[in-house]
Amino acid sequence: MSGSVASNPIKVMGLDFKHPVGLAAGLDKDAKAIRGLFQMGFSHIEVGTLTPRPQPGNDKPRLYRLRKDQALINRMGFNNEGSIAASKRLVNRDKSWGVVGGNIGRNKLTANENAVEDYLLSMNHLRAVVDYFTINISSPNTPGLRDLQHEKALKRLLQKIYEENKVSDDPKPLAVKISPDLSKNEIQSISKLAVDCGFNGIIGTNTTTGRIGISINDRAIEKIGNGGLSGRPLSRHSTDVVSWIKEAVEDSTAVIGVGGVFTEQDVLDKRNAGADLVQVYTGFVYNGPSMIHDIQGAWKK
Ligand SMILES: Cc1cc2nc3c(=O)[nH]c(=O)nc-3n(C[C@H](O)[C@H](O)[C@H](O)COP(=O)(O)O)c2cc1C
Repeated sequence: MSGSVASNPIKVMGLDFKHPVGLAAGLDKDAKAIRGLFQMGFSHIEVGTLTPRPQPGNDKPRLYRLRKDQALINRMGFNNEGSIAASKRLVNRDKSWGVVGGNIGRNKLTANENAVEDYLLSMNHLRAVVDYFTINISSPNTPGLRDLQHEKALKRLLQKIYEENKVSDDPKPLAVKISPDLSKNEIQSISKLAVDCGFNGIIGTNTTTGRIGISINDRAIEKIGNGGLSGRPLSRHSTDVVSWIKEAVEDSTAVIGVGGVFTEQDVLDKRNAGADLVQVYTGFVYNGPSMIHDIQGAWKK
């Protein structure tokens, strides 16, 4: 595949990546476009968030561009066709294209007490066709989902997922994706807990419910309504979160930095904060495919 330049290969979570830059979850939720996305040059693509049963997501409008701020606000709400449909699309992929991560969540109507069943179902559906799993407990658009980040609930969830993965016929590396809207203490506790539960990677961060660093006025912000903010305004804070995670886990697990990556310097900032890989969503929406080639070699410099 011509788009993927094997310029900067690295091993993370036991997997081989052609370079550090991947596509963050949420753009190709249903694994409909991975071939084309790999051709654009990503080293890895995180499909999802997928839920075990299909669901429509929130009513439209649910995605807003804040052009001047190089930001997006979304409240998609895990619109997806379900993990079985995605697994059928992924079954014939060529593994030489790159690494595919399966980002999974619970259905909107599943109570948090039963959430673990949803994660395990999707893992079963996707196990044969993805290279790693990301446990998403940090999207702001599924009511109550972020409560799974509370210590007791999280321990139960991660332990169970780890155990079931370990005894399966094809265990996969496990990552957990966390929110930027937590204190340093909370982020470091969650990171240590994930390591204690045997997880191989921590992804920081998802979108923020905060509205800092954007130039539109309060009335315009209010008109948009709820949702997660991504892009440039999140850049500095998500880099801080990466450094907090790294401080907590040292070299015991991989750290994947995501949030406001647009330029080579942004990639370097995430790396200097401790990231082993970076992921991009909003930067790709604004800058298009050429950015992947522009930034993928940053770590070699
Ligand atoms: C429209 C949209 C949909 C998203 N959907 C998901 C999702 O389904 N699951 C997930 O873990 N993250 C999702 N995200 C979050 C991104 O993966 C990423 O963590 C966040 O946007 C920060 O990176 P960025 O500033 O490069 O966009 C979504 C982001 C956007 C903008």
